[in-house]
Amino acid sequence: MDVEIQSRIKALLKQKNAILLAHNYQPPEIQDVADFCGDSLELSIRAAETQAEVLVFCGVHFMAETASILSPQKTVLLPRTDAGCPMADMVTPEALQARIESLPGVPVVTYVNSSAAVKALSTICCTSANAAAVVNSLDADEVLMVPDRNLARNTAAQTDKKVHLWDGCCPFHDILTPEMVLAAKAAHPEALFLAHPECLPEVVALADAAVSTSGMIRFARDSQASTFLVGTEVGMHYPLQKACPDKEFIMVSERMHCDDMKKISLEDVLRCLETMGGEVKVPEDIRVPALTAVERMIAVTAS
Ligand code: 13P
Ligand code: SF4
Repeated sequence: MDVEIQSRIKALLKQKNAILLAHNYQPPEIQDVADFCGDSLELSIRAAETQAEVLVFCGVHFMAETASILSPQKTVLLPRTDAGCPMADMVTPEALQARIESLPGVPVVTYVNSSAAVKALSTICCTSANAAAVVNSLDADEVLMVPDRNLARNTAAQTDKKVHLWDGCCPFHDILTPEMVLAAKAAHPEALFLAHPECLPEVVALADAAVSTSGMIRFARDSQASTFLVGTEVGMHYPLQKACPDKEFIMVSERMHCDDMKKISLEDVLRCLETMGGEVKVPEDIRVPALTAVERMIAVTAS
């Protein structure tokens, strides 16, 4: 059944000059039909570069918005427009504006896991793959990092700058405790531990690598080790195992399960391509300032 829907999706993608981009946490059957799977940074860059007229974005709302910010001339479709990001919802433009006014002159570094309206108020964006490079690129002694307090504290350990925090987090990465990691390490003493930078700093301190989702794939591929403990959303097991079929990946907690990342089904993708429904379009008054923040980030990554 999956194979039949996947082939109908592929035919429609071709017919509509569309490509399907999927985040690494998406369900396996979605990743298998995607033209490209990646982390947030890679997906933004791919969205900006592609010649396709239509982007079907399998991820959450902020990712489709970022694609629309970068490619206003393209049609960006999100097969489930109700797939959001609880962390992105932890900062509103109004609350951010008030905080900016309390920290005059301090640049705002905003995680891509945020709304376009929040990005529009920001100096520069970052992802889990480039947060330290972005912060260190700024000609300022202090920065405000929004909305992930864990990413901010983990980045603060890699810079001399004073980092002001916003009190948000990913509710799934935040539940992983050092005790859970230590218990997993005791059960698998030979394993290396991969943590996502959205985890608590006390968890990141135990990691052999604290990297983005695609950074985890690269690290596991290049490593001599054959067993890995993984501290991130459970969907990451599939692309890790696919990239390294001879290695073993053990998710430290099965409770790190993001429902929003699992909303899109193959049927949703098919319907979205048939009807061209689920368009995400950022209005120009928000898109233009948000684009400045996203393009500054891409420039730091490219340099
Ligand atoms: P990355 O894939 O950029 O590491 O981000 C993880 C994430 O939380 C996406 O929601
Ligand atoms: Fe947001 Fe966390 Fe879900 Fe990623 S895993 S979409 S950061 S809630």
